[in-house]
Amino acid sequence: MQAVLDALGAAAARPGKVLVLTGAGVSAESGIPTFRGKEGYWTIGAREYHPQELATYEAFRTMPWNVWAWYLYRRGVCRRAEPNAAHRALVRLAAALPDRFALVTQNVDGLHRRAGSPDAQTFPIHGDITLARCADDCTLDRFPVPDGVPELGKGEEVSEETKALLVCPRCGGMARPHVLWFDESYDEPRFHLDTVRRLAMQAAVLVVAGTSAQTNLPWQVVTLAARAGAVIVDVNVEDNPFGDIAASSGGVVRAPAATVMDRLVEAIYIRPATG
Ligand code: APR
Repeated sequence: MQAVLDALGAAAARPGKVLVLTGAGVSAESGIPTFRGKEGYWTIGAREYHPQELATYEAFRTMPWNVWAWYLYRRGVCRRAEPNAAHRALVRLAAALPDRFALVTQNVDGLHRRAGSPDAQTFPIHGDITLARCADDCTLDRFPVPDGVPELGKGEEVSEETKALLVCPRCGGMARPHVLWFDESYDEPRFHLDTVRRLAMQAAVLVVAGTSAQTNLPWQVVTLAARAGAVIVDVNVEDNPFGDIAASSGGVVRAPAATVMDRLVEAIYIRPATG
């Protein structure tokens, strides 16, 4: 651990952006199941679906209300969860480095925002489960899922009253969750593609936390940051491909993110006294 802290401190003393890239593992200690963990499965009728099957445009096209039911269940789980020590540590880092720090998150649970991470420094690259948008793309605008839409329990179906609320306020067509699905592409207006790539190209430090390295833009972030000479650290309870990259850079921390993030961010923003 000390070698990782020293590497972070030295890298942060150099010019360049300080980036943190988070995934579902950062919210695990808030009680939100990770995607690829066992609790991520969902049953429709007699069949068990994996999130990779349900979080697709194809699933939404063929069974929109089943997909909405899954999101309304997960929205309730997220709403009941509270930010943990890792989320809070990243708020302190944002405040300490207002011009240099950016948080790139794959999490749609909104916990970084609820902890206090400023919007200007936070880039949710997979959307936000509390928001919806037009399923026909009549506009890029997002809107909050209306207040009258209930949280659903496992196995509960979307009622006709709720269906009437889940509409685009502009065209009256069906609304969809504002999330990036597996068979869809990143873009700048909705998912900050260009901004995040640019930040990665300027990175002096990249801390990757709680992700299994299965998605495209995080790979671009890690690859571009490595090419820019950034010191990369991986925080995860398990080995993963980003850990392999970090092992030959700043190092790996094999511990729950909530137990170590405060020490990592302090190594970045608290400069040892000199002279
Ligand atoms: N601390 C740190 N890491 C943890 C913890 C923890 N307490 N608990 C679990 N992890 C790690 C797991 O070892 C795993 O590597 O978090 C990772 C979670 O992986 P996934 O469930 O695949 O989540 P993530 O990488 O965020 O998924 C990426 O894929 O499903 C899509 O769009 C969805 O944003 C999601 C994306």
